[in-house]
Amino acid sequence: MTPPRKLHIKSYGCQMNVYDAQRMVDTLGAEGFVETADAGDADLVILNTCHIREKASEKVYSELGRLRVAKEEAAKAGRAMQIAVAGCVAQAEGAEIIARAPTVDVVVGPQSYHHLPQLLSQASRGERAIETEFPAEDKFGFLAKPSREAIRARGVSAFVTVQEGCDKFCTFCVVPYTRGAEMSRPVARIVDDVMQLTESGVREITLIGQNVNAYHGDGPDGRAWTLGRLLYRIAEIPGVARIRYSTSHPNDVDDDLIAAHRDLRAVMPFVHLPVQSGSDRILDLMNRRHGAADYRRVVDRFRSVRPDIAFSSDFIVGFPGETEEDFRATLALIDQIGYAAAYSFKYSPRPGTPAADMQEMVSATEMDERLERLQSLIDSQQAAFNRSAIGTVVDVLFERAARKPGQLVGRTAYLQPAHVMASEDIIGQVLPVRIDSLERYSLLGELVTTPAARPDVASLMSIGG
Ligand code: 5AD
Ligand code: SF4
Repeated sequence: MTPPRKLHIKSYGCQMNVYDAQRMVDTLGAEGFVETADAGDADLVILNTCHIREKASEKVYSELGRLRVAKEEAAKAGRAMQIAVAGCVAQAEGAEIIARAPTVDVVVGPQSYHHLPQLLSQASRGERAIETEFPAEDKFGFLAKPSREAIRARGVSAFVTVQEGCDKFCTFCVVPYTRGAEMSRPVARIVDDVMQLTESGVREITLIGQNVNAYHGDGPDGRAWTLGRLLYRIAEIPGVARIRYSTSHPNDVDDDLIAAHRDLRAVMPFVHLPVQSGSDRILDLMNRRHGAADYRRVVDRFRSVRPDIAFSSDFIVGFPGETEEDFRATLALIDQIGYAAAYSFKYSPRPGTPAADMQEMVSATEMDERLERLQSLIDSQQAAFNRSAIGTVVDVLFERAARKPGQLVGRTAYLQPAHVMASEDIIGQVLPVRIDSLERYSLLGELVTTPAARPDVASLMSIGG
């Protein structure tokens, strides 16, 4: 038997890339590859890149510089190392990567991961391979499923892609270009994937997509199902204790989704709902297709059915033309909503997007200053939110042993890490915990026998937005 070949994947960016990396490992696993944590020791290194923010491609080229050295070392030792670039930078700048980085053997865009085995064998015949088309077939039908062992090793919480791509065309965003047009997977395929995961011990499912609540996959009745309807179906699958979904656009929150939050205990009351800005003028320039008041109404609809619901968001500061007054409108919106967490970014032009041609750039100092003000407001909201858990009993899904001997770590409904002294046999269970104190972002508590007062009501960078 030939010894297994070693594969190292370095993934950047969003949850979708984490998920895609796992699918690549599964698909190449079927070809005899095993994962290694050491790039220098690998027969194949895949850089799974992210294009969403600043200096994405420069980072890729500097990483490729390091890999070129590792590849030369391997060659000296008589070992052939292949280097592949995947993800959104591959999609956006594939031909340039091939031209600029002779060390790269394969460039593969996100819609073509199922072709990786062929691309690699083409490259081992000495022909460098590039595939950045959007093939007609559904790659999900061709990507290998994870083995039972792989699922177990990845833990009790798993991602399942339900849709990809985005048709919203926010003016700052590359996703519609790198991930392509919005497409949804059929309900039956998603249900099969979830069942396979739960049969191997997964208890929490996060449905992911760049614009997840635009979901409109074929249902078993031949009609297009909404995300809300899909949530009802997933909640029926034995073993599913918790369901999350990410990332949502405010305009695609419909009545089915609100009803699912009202009716389904498994749907966690924590929603990532990016708004980007609180200024109507900037929202318009961003082509978000909603104003601040529309966003507040969406939040109110969720809250009217789940008063305990909490939100996280994404914000961009320094979008071209953003004035101090626009920025204050963002702070005011944050004040009004009250977030449990948020991600915030300085605007950076992405080549090929409409905003990249906008002229009125905000100065770097102003951007820094606004980012700091925004982050300190979010930090104080997050700290208050975390403090409010102290003294309450909340449900925790136990995930794994913590660093401290005898301690386990799990997550609350709001994704706060919770640390408890307990035995490892409760991993995979959702149990009530009384929260005693807070250590930075982590809750410390004890298992209790009384159920949580609010049963199961108590990230990562997001995808799309
Ligand atoms: N500049 C800064 N932030 C951006 N994001 C997307 N594109 C850009 C850009 N050009 C942020 C948005 C999105 C998140 C995933 O990344 O806030 O919601
Ligand atoms: Fe689509 Fe989100 Fe990008 Fe807007 S920010 S284009 S909704 S992925």
